[in-house]
Parts: sequence; C-alpha cells; structure tokens
Amino acid sequence: MQLSPEHLTRLDRDGFLILPSVFSETEISTIKNRLPALLQDSSEANIIEKESGQVRTAMGLHIRDEIFAKLVRHPRLVQPARQIRPEPLYIQQVKVNIKAAFSGEVWQWHYDFATHHSDDGVPQPLALNLHIFLDDVTPFNGPLYFIPGSHKYGTHRAFHDTQTTSYPLWVVDQDVVRDLVSRAEKVNPGRGIVPAIGPKGSMLIFHDTLVHGSPNNMSPWDRSIFSLILNPISNALTREDRPDYKHHRELSDIIEVEDNCLE
Ligand code: SIN
Ligand code: MN
Repeated sequence: MQLSPEHLTRLDRDGFLILPSVFSETEISTIKNRLPALLQDSSEANIIEKESGQVRTAMGLHIRDEIFAKLVRHPRLVQPARQIRPEPLYIQQVKVNIKAAFSGEVWQWHYDFATHHSDDGVPQPLALNLHIFLDDVTPFNGPLYFIPGSHKYGTHRAFHDTQTTSYPLWVVDQDVVRDLVSRAEKVNPGRGIVPAIGPKGSMLIFHDTLVHGSPNNMSPWDRSIFSLILNPISNALTREDRPDYKHHRELSDIIEVEDNCLE
C-alpha cells in the first residue's frame, strides 16, 4: 500500500494521518479473537490499570502470538512506513491499548520521543507510530487527542510521571499544551485539538514529536487500538534500561508477509 502525495503532505503538515477502513471486518476479527487469551496471561507485559484491575496495555504481542507476528510485518503497515523512512527499520514496540468500557484510564499529554529518548537513549525523533483501530473509535470512547502541527516545534520540557497511571510516561506541562493548542488554533480556528476517530480497521500514522493524549473511557463501548512503533536501525536505542517488551532489541530489517495473510 502506497501513500499518495496528498497523504504525505497532510502527515508532514499535521504530524498525523488517519486512513479509514484499511483493514477489513474479517481481518479485524482475526486479530481481535486473539485478545481474550492474551489478556488472561499472567505475563508482566500485560500492564494493569491502576483503578479497575483491567489490562491497560498488552505488550510484546508479536513474540507472544502468531497472528500479531504476521501483523507487525503486514505490507499495509510496513510499506507506508518505508515510504516515509526509506531505510532499514526495526520493530521497537508492539502493543494493544485496551481502554475498556467505563474504566479505561487517561493517557496524559505527551510526545513519544520524550520517553524514547529519556528512557532508551534513542538519538533522533524518527520513530513512526502506526495504529490500527480494533473497535470503532468515536468522540466518546477515549480517542487519542492530537494537537495538529505540534510535531514541528521539536522537543519540549517533559517530566517523568510515575503516579497518574500504572504506565510511567514522560509527560508535558500544561503550559506547553496551552501554547501549542493556541498556535494550532491560529492556523486552523476550532482545530487546536482534534480527536483521532474512525471505524474499526482504520489506520493512523503519527510522528514521534506530535503532542497527544487521550481521556478516560466513560462510555459503554470498548476502545482497543493496536500500535506498532518502527524506528530506523540507524537511530536505534543506546540504553537497555527498560524491559524488552517496551523496546525490543532485535535490530533487523522487517521482512514483509503476504497482504492476504489475515483473511
Ligand atoms: C492511547 O492508547 O489512548 C494512547 C496511546 C499513545 O499514546 O500512543
Ligand atoms: Mn503516545
């Protein structure tokens, strides 16, 4: 799958790109059917919400499950990534963020590179985050919120928040968010923050310095999203302080599978 010049322009301008219905209902069912068993594992790669005891994020899935092993090598993910970063790429992180109905908790305002750099010593913000919606994502079930264009400002002051949720994260100050939102509002009034929404099977690509977060899911609808982070091998981690399910160590270029492997 190739991105059009218009897609590439939007991704560069906004820092993210939403592509509706890239994966079919059948393919999404094949993926989602694996989740109940994976979520029941006692694996330390399943991180539990602070309040509800439900799984917040299930990590390292391509090592734990054969369908996810195919998904991370799927051409509809890998080819767009290669278009954006035309060099050998390794699999940095693989997870499903669950956000269960009524209980899924917040992801604070952050940009991913703050964590990749501070925790893993990744030199440059070149990693790409590729998401697939495994449920319909609406304004109500805890979608990601993006600040369009915020990736253009590079890095910001960030602090390590180990308290708010069960997942330690480098997060940005409210002042930074306020400033970036008001800059985005000037460019496009009413769109200082946009929710990343779409039907299940939609795909999302975003840059490592894009500021984002997501609210609690107080709706009766689950919201699970698959996330694959790919990083150029030339920009690999320089520290191995975190467990490998948070940043994998195998620095080999991805070998693609067949496009119909999930049908
Ligand atoms: C979320 O799943 O709502 C946020 C995940 C992310 O920060 O990529
Ligand atoms: Mn993030």
